[in-house]
Amino acid sequence: VTAAPPTAADPRVPPVLAIMEFTADGGATLGHRIVDAGAPHVLVSDLSATRGDGIFETISLGAGHTQALEPHLRRFAHSAALLELPPPDLDTWREAVLEVAAALGAGTAPDEGFVKIVLTRGVEGQDAPTGWAYAAASPDHTPARTTGIRIVLLDRGYRHDVAQTSPWLLAGAKTLSYAVNRAAYREAARRDADDALFLSSDGFLLEGAVSNLVLRAGDRLITPRTDLGILEGTTQHDIFTWAEGEGFTCSYEVLTPDDLANADAAWLVSSVRHAAPVRAVDGIDRPVDRELSDRINDYLRGRTE
Ligand SMILES: Cc1ncc(COP(=O)(O)O)c(C=O)c1O
Repeated sequence: VTAAPPTAADPRVPPVLAIMEFTADGGATLGHRIVDAGAPHVLVSDLSATRGDGIFETISLGAGHTQALEPHLRRFAHSAALLELPPPDLDTWREAVLEVAAALGAGTAPDEGFVKIVLTRGVEGQDAPTGWAYAAASPDHTPARTTGIRIVLLDRGYRHDVAQTSPWLLAGAKTLSYAVNRAAYREAARRDADDALFLSSDGFLLEGAVSNLVLRAGDRLITPRTDLGILEGTTQHDIFTWAEGEGFTCSYEVLTPDDLANADAAWLVSSVRHAAPVRAVDGIDRPVDRELSDRINDYLRGRTE
């Protein structure tokens, strides 16, 4: 059903894995060690496996360079705080990320890759978290970046102010509990689309299943406000910084489906896939701004920090 599936990552680039080491009494971060990425390392009683109780970040690599690493690390620490996990020592995590990124491709970095970092509440009954940093080559997302994607609007079932009224729902934390996000993809596929954009129960545009929304209206770029229980996107943020330099005015607003319907162009933006232009919403075709899509993706792919 998917019109633009990514093609598989380069099989000649084996993944690289670092396991984080923590003290056994409370989980202060000690360091990391490189291990065999093909061997088992996580116990079946780890709370990530049994409850999805943990957090993650996915950092894209362009020609071996980490992209938006500091914002990703800051968001990782923010997610840890929302879940009341031991605060990750960001210097130690940064070292692990840079080491697995440098080792990927053994000196010949793939054009595009990613590092996924994971911190879990650890093994049930023990007082230390589990963590790792995993680097791999990215699949080829060119079709989504050029032809574009068809999306459907799905009600997330939460009001726009859920982060303020119900912090226990962890809106705005990047948790490992992504079964809902995957279910949204399956619902999109059932409706002959490639991706989903969540709406609040009171009718406001939120975020994609794993991405943020960016609209263009003339020379303005607009994204939903980040206090609506969504993730603060690192890709969206970098696009805005770049676009301001290109003469666009950028803003965070409360948006409705009409704003999407009336926009000159729309993208779902995220690490790894970068900017995917939206070519249909709920079965209705809409224009793709190929020229600006290419400029945005050239910028995103070429980032060296
Ligand atoms: C729910 C959700 N929103 C937004 C994003 C986009 O964030 P970023 O651009 O930092 O990858 C992601 C990232 O995967 C996500 O999972």
